[in-house]
Amino acid sequence: MLLQGWSNKQDLSTKGITFPDIQFADDCVLYDGNMKKYIDGKSQMMNANFGHNVSQLVEVICDQASTLCYQPTMDSHMNSIAENYSKQLLSICPNYFKSVYCSLSGTSANEVAVQVISHYREVSKSSHKNKVLSITGCYHGCSTVMSEISENSYENKPYRVNDNEKYGKLIQPYCYRCPLELEFESCEKECCVQLQRQLDMYDPKTISMIILEPVQGAGVITYPNEYIDVLSNYAEAFDIFIVSDEVVTGMGRVGKDFGFELYDLKPNVITMSKTITNGMLPLGVTIFDNRLSEFISKNELMTGSTQDGNTLSCKLATAVLEHYRQFPWKNIVKEKGIYLFTRANEMLSDINSVGDLRCAGLLLCIELVNDKATKERYDDLARVKKSLLEQGVSLFYERNWITIIPPFTIGEDMILEILTKVKHVLERDSIEVKYNG
Ligand SMILES: Cc1ncc(COP(=O)(O)O)c(C=O)c1O
Repeated sequence: MLLQGWSNKQDLSTKGITFPDIQFADDCVLYDGNMKKYIDGKSQMMNANFGHNVSQLVEVICDQASTLCYQPTMDSHMNSIAENYSKQLLSICPNYFKSVYCSLSGTSANEVAVQVISHYREVSKSSHKNKVLSITGCYHGCSTVMSEISENSYENKPYRVNDNEKYGKLIQPYCYRCPLELEFESCEKECCVQLQRQLDMYDPKTISMIILEPVQGAGVITYPNEYIDVLSNYAEAFDIFIVSDEVVTGMGRVGKDFGFELYDLKPNVITMSKTITNGMLPLGVTIFDNRLSEFISKNELMTGSTQDGNTLSCKLATAVLEHYRQFPWKNIVKEKGIYLFTRANEMLSDINSVGDLRCAGLLLCIELVNDKATKERYDDLARVKKSLLEQGVSLFYERNWITIIPPFTIGEDMILEILTKVKHVLERDSIEVKYNG
């Protein structure tokens, strides 16, 4: 039996919902064995940003596979393919970023960041700085340490040690459900004051790093500029490293090369995965600023896994990066994102079960509620998922959120088709509520 990760998510499996067995994919459409079509409104796992079966990318893999499939990136092996990729990647980063470690996934990219920073603290005689803070509601991966740092819907992971002192959580600026129970605008951004209190409470002299997603993926939670200013000021004043987890936001998704460019933020480390190979092969990257790069150059890098920086993956990633730079994707994403958000507002905002709509670039969250007034979380997402799959639409579901995160290549007609079907499924819900009431 094949085991699936996160398999009991929202108990969808017990409700008879299985994702179709996709056999073929073309641009924004997936086909099952009966050639039933599904619009891919979630870029598979938020990674196939340039669409499926992009012929020049497939060719690159085939060409490389016919010459050399594997060359290590450890034990001082020369590896011109990974070397060239890291050079190309650095050229889209701010120029104070100097080195790249290639691993295998978003999880491993973040692990490497934690490992290198911990090593730095030890060598620089500041091992009292050992706290790793993150933002409530975040997701940074599935390893044991990343599970400690993440705070997503799987709170009861049996392998968590729940060291809330070492792996502290900072307030989430989730305005629709304000953790301080205030209303947006009249709140005067009280969360930023709270953030300062929390940082003081953790004792900033003991904080080693803060990791954040510039936009929290599925829920599309962004930060007020003042929030980021507080983080940046503390980071500067107390020598705290900032890690920007760009696994979802990197390479164009929010209309910028990196999500941190949405704010006045200068991270020390950037991590990426998913889209860097268009989801076609596994790869993660950890990109270090000049201080950490210099440290690594003088000290051993205390990590490395056999397939890290896999040759086929790096060759493909180089071609994906070239593809990214050849087209004005950032503008395309901005335009399509505005279209998606505008139409979603027109078509969905009056529906009883639509509590909030949030968008960043080409990434939209529809927050569903049972009741707009009480904001009680919607409790039948499985029904929505099932209906939409039956109608040939694949979207991302988490908590009481539907997330639409299509490939950048999607046309307005398909965006409209997704929204029309979502509207139809949710309106049926409203009719039932009216009838029952
Ligand atoms: C922001 C973010 N960071 C890290 C990860 C982990 O990436 P991976 O699943 O490749 O390990 C994810 C995965 O969804 C993510 O969304």
